[in-house]
Amino acid sequence: MRLAVFLPYTDRGQLHEYLKSLLPLATLALAGFHTGVLAQGDAAHQVTYNGEVGKIINENCVVCHREGGIGPMQFESYEQVRPWAPLIQLRVASKEMPPYAYDHGIGVQELKGDWRLQQEDIDTIVAWVDQGAPLGDADNPPPPAVFPDPDAWTFATLYGEPDLIVPSVPMDIPANGNDMWSKHYMPTGTTQDLCIKAIQVKPQGDARAVVHHANSSVDFLNENGEYERYSELTEYAMGKWGELVPDGVCRTLPANSRVEWRIHFFPGGVGATAQGKMIKDNVVEIGMWFHEPDYAEKVNPYKQDLKRYSMREGYEGGTLVIPPHGYTMTQGFHTFDHPVRIDSFQPHGHLRMNAASLEVFYPETGRTEQLSQISNWSATWHHSHLYESDFAPLLPTGAMLIIKQWYDNTANNPNNPDPDQWVVDGSRTGDEMSHAWIAVTHLDDEGFEKLVAERKQREERSVVGQ
Ligand code: HEC
Repeated sequence: MRLAVFLPYTDRGQLHEYLKSLLPLATLALAGFHTGVLAQGDAAHQVTYNGEVGKIINENCVVCHREGGIGPMQFESYEQVRPWAPLIQLRVASKEMPPYAYDHGIGVQELKGDWRLQQEDIDTIVAWVDQGAPLGDADNPPPPAVFPDPDAWTFATLYGEPDLIVPSVPMDIPANGNDMWSKHYMPTGTTQDLCIKAIQVKPQGDARAVVHHANSSVDFLNENGEYERYSELTEYAMGKWGELVPDGVCRTLPANSRVEWRIHFFPGGVGATAQGKMIKDNVVEIGMWFHEPDYAEKVNPYKQDLKRYSMREGYEGGTLVIPPHGYTMTQGFHTFDHPVRIDSFQPHGHLRMNAASLEVFYPETGRTEQLSQISNWSATWHHSHLYESDFAPLLPTGAMLIIKQWYDNTANNPNNPDPDQWVVDGSRTGDEMSHAWIAVTHLDDEGFEKLVAERKQREERSVVGQ
């Protein structure tokens, strides 16, 4: 069965232009609605920077759009923001900024570390720009932006500094040239099995621009004194935030272990992060936070793992091919012989990939349910979408995960370096890939039924509470 489908629409470019031309209309309609609602309550209400917009921008944009940040312009004050107001309106209304492409209204919406703006805030920004982007009361500026140091660990605010940091060996990356790979081993120094509660991979400093991805696995010393593969450890790709393991489960780092690093560098950088300069002594680090050492005994947790799920099964010849100026779609199917909870979903592709989805098919009912949809996917931002534990999909034995990814090799894809190329399966940034990283908690029937019952109870309580 051939699963790579060459989509027949050649006029998608025109469709895209048409949709873009509708955007200002949609924006006006929204703004009209918004001011209409406001006008009912308070005819004189004007949306201002100092009133509401500055706060939204400080909380959601300045972290990247500031001096030394990765955004191309700065939004630290009204004077800096004002000239960009029309472009801000466009990018916010189309949900391209903040850069967190995860569709509203489809599948699970409760995510940890979600960067998306609330629709209310989007409407406020849109209305503000339509009203001429005024400053408002000059004596009442918004609360200043607070942001973490980009070199700080994401979870330091929750758990402090990591309990263990495993660095890679330092490597010099030239300013330009072909993709580079490094595979090497580093000891962890563990003397007992530990349960990971959070994990983050962090390129140091300028390395952020050139580390395309950094995957890691764990080996442990077996009784013959030889290293044996234990599991995948974690995965990093550009723009990633880190992973939190839900409570009550254990992702194990075994005793007497070592980490295998597999790092892919893209000299000169990629996309918005391009630095175009030589980077010396490039180091990537894994930070890990652990539960207390007796966690496994006390809690008897279910096992959680993060694995790479491919989308090539059944594929003719196992090859991904995207024709010049064409489209392709890939899919993969996976079932488990026990019940599971899906804790996170992170699609992976390169410069042509532009969308992904995760669905579940229930064979008993013949129904398919959508769990996640990511339209406008971009390789610059590899988010691992972490489902809030109370909303993480629970799959009975035999339910089938369906993972899909779409590829756009036309000139309409803003990330496409060359639409005249045939693009095939491969590891270079200019090649394509088709897989997703999914964290799964492996349950048994008892654990599954308990979680299902807890959710039912919660839903009933919230209905009664209304
Ligand atoms: C995590 C970092 C990050 C955050 C948060 C972020 N941006 Fe950006 N922004 C970028 C980067 C990087 C670019 C340049 C590349 C791109 O367009 O993706 C950019 C580009 C832009 C552009 C220019 C787009 C163009 O067409 O040239 C605008 C406007 C913008 N951002 C507005 C915002 C607003 C408004 C917010 C908050 C609501 C925001 N951004 C939040 C990183 C960020």
